[in-house]
Amino acid sequence: MSTYKKIYERSLNDPDGFWGDAAQGIDWSKPWDKVLDMEAKPAPRWFKGGELNTCYNALDRHVKNGRGEQAALIYDSPITGKQKTYTYSELTDTVAKFAGALADRGVGKGDRVLVYMPMIPEAAIAMLATARLGAIHSVVFGGFAANELATRINDAEPKVIVSASCGIEPSRVIAYKPLLDEAIDLSDHKPDATIIYARPEAEASMIEGRDFDWNTAAQAAAPAECVQVEATDPLYILYTSGTTGQPKGVVRDNGGHAVAMHWTMKNIYNVEPGDVYWAASDVGWVVGHSYIVYGPLLAGCTTIMYEGKPVGTPDPGAFWRVISEHNVKVLFTAPTAFRAIKKEDPDGEYLKKYDLGCMDSLFLAGERCDPDTLYWARDKLQKPVVDHWWQTETAWGIAANPLGIEPMEVKAGSPTVAMPGYDVRILSEEGDEMPDGEMGNIVVKLPLPPACLPTLWNNDQRFIDSYLAKYPGYYLSGDAGFRDDDGYLWIMSRTDDVINVAGHRLSTGAIEEVLAGHEDVAECAVIGAADQLKGQLPVGLVVLKAGADRDEQELAGELVKRVRDLIGPVAAFKQVVVVSALPKTRSGKILRGTMVKIADQQEWKMPATIDNPAILDDISVALKKLGYAGA
Ligand code: COA
Ligand code: AMP
Repeated sequence: MSTYKKIYERSLNDPDGFWGDAAQGIDWSKPWDKVLDMEAKPAPRWFKGGELNTCYNALDRHVKNGRGEQAALIYDSPITGKQKTYTYSELTDTVAKFAGALADRGVGKGDRVLVYMPMIPEAAIAMLATARLGAIHSVVFGGFAANELATRINDAEPKVIVSASCGIEPSRVIAYKPLLDEAIDLSDHKPDATIIYARPEAEASMIEGRDFDWNTAAQAAAPAECVQVEATDPLYILYTSGTTGQPKGVVRDNGGHAVAMHWTMKNIYNVEPGDVYWAASDVGWVVGHSYIVYGPLLAGCTTIMYEGKPVGTPDPGAFWRVISEHNVKVLFTAPTAFRAIKKEDPDGEYLKKYDLGCMDSLFLAGERCDPDTLYWARDKLQKPVVDHWWQTETAWGIAANPLGIEPMEVKAGSPTVAMPGYDVRILSEEGDEMPDGEMGNIVVKLPLPPACLPTLWNNDQRFIDSYLAKYPGYYLSGDAGFRDDDGYLWIMSRTDDVINVAGHRLSTGAIEEVLAGHEDVAECAVIGAADQLKGQLPVGLVVLKAGADRDEQELAGELVKRVRDLIGPVAAFKQVVVVSALPKTRSGKILRGTMVKIADQQEWKMPATIDNPAILDDISVALKKLGYAGA
């Protein structure tokens, strides 16, 4: 039996033994009473009764164990031309001071702190400082608009919001403070205070008594000690797209998360303490939480915080420069980043300028990795390239090629095999297990392993309805796919209204809600059409209200602006077309799947239940206007 198989089977047959051993990698102030509590509701829980502090495990203990002078975090910002390195000692002290500043504003155990920050070290510092106090952070990605921020403020009800004066995109400086002020105006819940990090690129106007300057607040504060919390207490809430405009607040606990993050660093990524690990993502996404901040620091690695893009900052050699300059052993990013590099530098000329001898492997996730991208990356880098599959809900790979256990044969298009703790099954609509090779709903038999969500913030019922109700005893991943004869998983598509744009998860339902709110729109559909660079792009099809006599270009401009203003630039919503009607079933369900197939020129069959088949010709013409459907 292979080493992987032995480990995997033990994880399912003896979860207490397996995760109990893994938990030795974490320092606990009180040991757990039970490794796995299967009786907990709404889902099983890990390390009940145990106490720890995640920030202590990520920082202080490494200083105690002699890593104080090792780099903990390297900030590399081609967009501002700045670099800064924090040793473990420096980062611990800075985080303790900032935790003091949060405590001075009343933040304590269980309180929420919302973090709306660009990719600067202060984002990680704010997260860790929150964790230090036993409080709960909720990081919101900088590319979301005020309205989305307001939704998250209302749901998480933060005592304090931490932000910066601006974020910087290659084409523009984004003033964050006006967005934050607008979001606070829009939300019913009001924070007691905000702490704003002033960047030289933009000045923030401050409201006396509510808004505090980061440096002043941190300087005035006494360093805060770590507050011990229960393993099952939340560490953070991270909102992700569901089927509606109301995002889901994924809850992450402290104990299971720390154990799983620590375990993955060696076993999946094959990095040791002291190695440099770089996740080129954003702290606003789960990859940023797990592998810019917590995973590498819990494991005593050096993490990189990169404020730049794969291309254009300044060129498609940007990633190679960072790797060679900072001695990066493992790079983790989304396939879309490699497609962007490949597009600008197909022959890998920029690669030749740098020595990548330090690099062991490349990990990709966030969207399906198309074989062409995988082959190109492997061919140019001459290193192992690992596609791994995971979700905001899980915090780490459900399927991967575990390089630290044993490298397995690569099958391009498959993220390899289920990781320990994940009992992955493929079920038919009726709940029967599908034979190998046949598509079905991908589910995980409960219990989910440590770090996976125990519930949604303040909403057990939505958690049950979204993930557990369809197949009792199983977690519904929302992805469809199959397992092949060798046990490899193939993740083919989502089964809900979620689309994946440049590795970012978006809800077509949320975009539809915004379009439907326009006064001239009677009804609409948003579909994810295939895009060579970003994987998918949202395309809007709108039906106008009777009597709305509008210039199509002008209306499209208004709708695009509306989505940008209400959801944010991250929606990448730029394409919308007016149609006379939408294809529907006789019961009134919009046939989005058929429209996607037409847009992508896939084979499609006339749905038996369609009410208005003739409309599909019009849809095809409309999609051609936007450059799809074989235009
Ligand atoms: N704050 C404000 N705006 C942001 C932002 C942020 N943090 N991040 C992105 N945006 C804006 C962009 O400027 C862009 O605006 P525009 O419409 O004015 O051009 C818009 O949101 C869409 O961004 P994106 O889809 O990222 O496109 P891009 O053209 O800027 O870059 C890639 C394309 C492929 C280079 C980029 O998506 C990328 O690097 N992806 C890596 C994948 C990744 O990080 N995935 C996260 C999960 S691993
Ligand atoms: P997010 O929660 O933003 O990480 O998005 C999770 C979703 O992205 C998954 O449910 C999948 O649909 C998709 N996804 C992520 N990684 C992969 C992968 N390696 N292969 C296929 N799909 C992926």
